[in-house]
Amino acid sequence: MKRIIAIYPGTFDPPTNGHLDLIQRGAELFDELVVSVLRNSEKTPLFTVEERQEMLAECVQQWGNVRVESFEGLLVDYARSLGAQVVLRGIRAVSDYEYELQMAMMNRRLDSSLETVFMMPAEAYSYLSSRLVREITGLGGTVSGLVPPSVESRLRARLRNAREASRPV
Ligand code: PNS
Repeated sequence: MKRIIAIYPGTFDPPTNGHLDLIQRGAELFDELVVSVLRNSEKTPLFTVEERQEMLAECVQQWGNVRVESFEGLLVDYARSLGAQVVLRGIRAVSDYEYELQMAMMNRRLDSSLETVFMMPAEAYSYLSSRLVREITGLGGTVSGLVPPSVESRLRARLRNAREASRPV
């Protein structure tokens, strides 16, 4: 039987419980799931690619068929290099749909053999995003229950360092 390899690409700055929810669903459905952090994003990230890979790797240990990588360049080229047939993406709300549809259609135009599969995370994570996690943490709020504990402590440490660096001498 043909093995289905799926890529779950993203920025993951930082990984959230919503991402993990999707990883679990993907791990159950596909033979192999490669969670891959985009390098050279135009965005200015809070965590380096290596830090994000580490955080993800810590969280996916429980699934034997999931591994974490990073990639740069076109997603379709990266998928081809892995022999992946599927791109996994999450849709939380209708507002995600337009952006996701545009990407899925463009990727299909670039490589018609690559299929995008959308999954919905648990309802509890339907309003969760890395951007809000960064904002809440930066303003001193709690993100407990929204990100894995290891990510939460890294966020706190990052914030402490930022505060110390900005303290007048
Ligand atoms: O978590 P994000 O930021 O929504 O993920 C976006 C991502 C990484 C999936 C997308 O930016 C991507 O695939 N970039 C790789 C470059 C590429 O292939 N661009 C054309 C896609 S239509």
